[in-house]
Amino acid sequence: MQKNIIITGASRGIGRELAKIHLQNGNNVFAISRNEEKLKELKQFENNSEFRFLALDLADFKSLDQIGEQISDWSRVDVLYNNAGFLVNKPVSEITEKDIDNSISVNYKAPFRMIQLLLDKMDSESHIVNITTMGAVQGSVKFPGLAAYSSSKSGIITLTELLAEEFDENQPKINCVALGAVQTEMLEEAFPGYKAPVTATEMAEYLYNFGLKGHHFQNGKTIQLSVSTP
Ligand SMILES: NC(=O)c1ccc[n+]([C@@H]2O[C@H](COP(=O)([O-])OP(=O)(O)OC[C@H]3O[C@@H](n4cnc5c(N)ncnc54)[C@H](OP(=O)(O)O)[C@@H]3O)[C@@H](O)[C@H]2O)c1
Repeated sequence: MQKNIIITGASRGIGRELAKIHLQNGNNVFAISRNEEKLKELKQFENNSEFRFLALDLADFKSLDQIGEQISDWSRVDVLYNNAGFLVNKPVSEITEKDIDNSISVNYKAPFRMIQLLLDKMDSESHIVNITTMGAVQGSVKFPGLAAYSSSKSGIITLTELLAEEFDENQPKINCVALGAVQTEMLEEAFPGYKAPVTATEMAEYLYNFGLKGHHFQNGKTIQLSVSTP
């Protein structure tokens, strides 16, 4: 049956591939990120499915209130992928207040707010998938330069556990996926020249299946998806 899917950070990388696969498989997709031109390109992948998008800055907490209006005609949301991410790669002494604010706003506050705004449209068959990084997992290998990024990504791991506990049996399931290296522009920013063993398309294929089915097997968990270091 046709599903209603929301994906943040769908203009490039993993989010773009994920939007594409859902559309090609007949699901409706609502995509959010800043680059309007890139978002528009996804329309070509509609296949008895409907694509809609909203260009906004997830760091602007107030602007997220528009999201509900865009899907007011959707009776439900099946999968919310909190996929957008902001990465700053600098030695800790060079990280500015703006870098810290942006990291927390995009990587923690925005997913939190998206969940608040969409909760009324989700039920026990809905699935919230929060995307984090292996670097945010306690005890994992850490890398210099990623202090603001990885620490700001750790909040949604704990948030996932908390909400799985707080939601009742009529509310959505929620899980977190901690990614290792995937070949995207963000990876190039974090590890210039490094070649990841996994493509964005391959990761999107995993997340497509996980979003639609994973909540029947897991709730409140962080799945570590990594075959390499980094
Ligand atoms: N690639 C990896 O190796 C890797 C590893 C671990 C975790 N991850 C995580 O996986 C997710 C996807 O990463 P990726 O590699 O596909 O990254 P990417 O290619 O850099 O794409 C990031 C997406 O997030 C959106 N975004 C960033 N800041 C935004 C903002 N302020 N407002 C709205 N949208 C914003 C970007 O869109 P606009 O620029 O159009 O706004 C873009 O669509 C991220 O959460 C990332 O942290 C990736």
